[in-house]
Amino acid sequence: MGVLSASSTVEHKRPYLRGVKVLVDGGMDIVPDIYIQPEHQRLCKSKVCPDTQDIPVIDLRELSNSGNRPKAIAAIGQACQKWGFFQVTNHGVPVATTEKMKEVAYEFFELPVEEKMAYHATSMSSKMTMYGTSFNPYEDKTFDWRDYLRHSCNPLSEENVSSWPANPPSYRQATHSTHTFLRFASLHFYKSSKAYSVSVCTSRETAVNYSEAVGSLCKSLLRALSESLGLSPEFLDAAFGTPNERFLLLNYYPPCPDPALALGLSSHSDVGGITILLQDATSGLQVLNDGQWIPVKPLPGAFVVNVGDQLQVLSNGKYKSVEHRVVLNSECPRLSIALFYNPSFNTVVSPVEELLDESHPPLYKEFTFSDYKKRFYAKLDGKACIRSVQTTVEASS
Ligand code: OGA
Ligand code: NI
Repeated sequence: MGVLSASSTVEHKRPYLRGVKVLVDGGMDIVPDIYIQPEHQRLCKSKVCPDTQDIPVIDLRELSNSGNRPKAIAAIGQACQKWGFFQVTNHGVPVATTEKMKEVAYEFFELPVEEKMAYHATSMSSKMTMYGTSFNPYEDKTFDWRDYLRHSCNPLSEENVSSWPANPPSYRQATHSTHTFLRFASLHFYKSSKAYSVSVCTSRETAVNYSEAVGSLCKSLLRALSESLGLSPEFLDAAFGTPNERFLLLNYYPPCPDPALALGLSSHSDVGGITILLQDATSGLQVLNDGQWIPVKPLPGAFVVNVGDQLQVLSNGKYKSVEHRVVLNSECPRLSIALFYNPSFNTVVSPVEELLDESHPPLYKEFTFSDYKKRFYAKLDGKACIRSVQTTVEASS
């Protein structure tokens, strides 16, 4: 069998690089070979947990009740050890903010494909707004059945926000009325913003509102996580450095003609610190626990929170960055919105000193977050990346 040259591989992929939605909308009713998972990765019913076992749900209102706070913090710590995942309710992010965010996300994916492709980039290291499909389509052998839009949301500077989609207009338009944005916006931009006069009264239900509100939630969760590890409340956020990296990732999974053959998102752990995921009412997310895939049931109004590789390393393996994947259905599309709260680019990450002693030697070597990311994006392969930074001491996962 001949070896495909890099250019012929790209040629072979070209019909699929514009996304899955455009194919499905065009009437595609079979799963093309490029999306067919190797047999061992496919949706294998026998390994999906059949009963009602579910990841913990934590009521965050308890964090502001001094009597109940220690219990809530202990519950968060236990969830991070056993599952690496939990759902949160009463998290303080207004329903209007989450609903509006989902609405503009749907609107974005409904745009003509040419308009979305204006944000297409060939490298995952692109810092700009990026529309794409699969995971890393220029590297992936098998494609994931997913389209996405990804962009940084920290800092909320003019340079950053102006690279976000101009359409739907409400995606960033109302940003001109936000106090945070005005702090950063240049006077020129502020004055020349035609939208300003009309949007000043608009409610702040946009991607900026969303990332600010979810960013605050992350900070409060990091305080709880620090305390759960016996550290001072500000420890973890400080360890992430400034400005810490934050990405918003909008995932769109079109219905699939044969969900048994393809995956929405292949098994992976998240590269960063913590991830806050908003899912719509369609299920699909599954978490690996004791060799079984556990479905994460959509809970109206809740966020799914999960530990990323950096928190696993900082906690010296106490908290688990657990593999998860997205399975498909043939009926309806699924939308999810992830905010990745990560260390800053240059932060040196290693197990926290305070958590180490003779019986707890460091399980991971130190590295910069930017190096780790380069390695991670080269290939999506379960937990291969975190294994590559293990010390010779035996880690439990
Ligand atoms: C991710 C992810 C899950 C989902 O974007 O890293 O795991 O439900 N998403 O879309
Ligand atoms: Ni993930």
